[in-house]
Amino acid sequence: MITTEPRAFPIPLRLARRMTRMPPSAVREILKVAEQPDVLSFAGGLPAPELFPIAEIADAYAKVLADEGRAALQYSTTEGFGPLREWVVARLARRGIRASADQVLITNGSQQGIDLVARTVLDPGDTVAVESPSYLAALQTFAGCEADFLIVGSDDDGMQVEALERAVEIGPSPKLVYVVPEFHNPKGTTLSLERRARLVRLCQVHRIPLLEDDPYGELRFRGEPPPPLAAIDDGGVVVHLGTFSKTLAPGMRLGWLVGPREIVRAATIVKQAADLHTGTLAQRAAASLLARFDYDGHLAGLRRAYGERCLAMLAALEQHLPPGTRWTNPDGGLFVWAELPSGISADDVFADALREKVAFVPGSAFFADSPRHEFLRLNYSNRPPELIAEGMARLGRVVSRRLA
Ligand SMILES: Cc1ncc(COP(=O)(O)O)c(C=O)c1O
Repeated sequence: MITTEPRAFPIPLRLARRMTRMPPSAVREILKVAEQPDVLSFAGGLPAPELFPIAEIADAYAKVLADEGRAALQYSTTEGFGPLREWVVARLARRGIRASADQVLITNGSQQGIDLVARTVLDPGDTVAVESPSYLAALQTFAGCEADFLIVGSDDDGMQVEALERAVEIGPSPKLVYVVPEFHNPKGTTLSLERRARLVRLCQVHRIPLLEDDPYGELRFRGEPPPPLAAIDDGGVVVHLGTFSKTLAPGMRLGWLVGPREIVRAATIVKQAADLHTGTLAQRAAASLLARFDYDGHLAGLRRAYGERCLAMLAALEQHLPPGTRWTNPDGGLFVWAELPSGISADDVFADALREKVAFVPGSAFFADSPRHEFLRLNYSNRPPELIAEGMARLGRVVSRRLA
């Protein structure tokens, strides 16, 4: 019997050793506070819910249930629904990525792709190279595999690949390299073309799987897209992750992993043990939707809206934040990364900001090594321009007070 007040025993239940390396996600904890209804939150990485194609998704689910309900509600293959895998192949071909359907594994969002690749490649004590700062939930996944980190610095052109080259030259090679090349989370920056070529070459020469996490690549609102790492790779080392979370809806939990056959096969076996397969109904509904829906038109609308919101945030930062504050200038994606004037800690500003009813994620959460406290991550996709302006005005007041 489970009771809310269990009897006390002197010996605690024993958890796995890896749990000591997996603290709860700081961002998820912050979101619990930040997402209160009266707080203007720029903390989450949430897409704009008013732009979800709800009616079209509802129609797709209804059609699939009416036309193929028995199959749509049945167990299905681990690899994923054939027509959806074919759609992924055709879509990626437009970005120069050549793959066949047997190299595609449909996942529960790209987060599961990170987990499957990590568990396919990493043994306890292995090293994974990551950018600093990096996507927090990937760091959590690697820590859960009891991996060690090789921390590689980054600047406005993304990961400092030269530093990784030097580290690989002098030390043992990492077992995996993880990178978010396009509209980085948390920084919003893009890996330069020159660094892309060098990174792929380095991983090819040293036979290191290179995990390209690309949830934002289709959300470019300015400039020409560089080729994805997977399009440059002619040596079979890049594993590319994509997702519908930021382009259709994250609640569908649909993503894909595309890569060398030996990794896709191994990841499929890991997935069999993890969850058998991704939800059949969601996969079939997505395939049905994409066969009839103007996906490119929908993406154009998202890009327009996010471009406007990003500009609104950059203009409001310029207007309200005191001198000495700096920020990145993204060409797409969801985030701006700001650096506070020297001597001011984002953790202190966060506490003040909540009292002013505005929230963000303090940047310290995104560092795998010693956390740095002068940064904050701001999301612009989830609020209309007028609320972004109001939120940045509140933030500006808080930072100016701290500075004074
Ligand atoms: C860099 C990065 N990778 C992966 C994910 C996970 O996305 P999904 O919803 O596809 O699992 C996110 C979500 O914000 C992200 O920012």
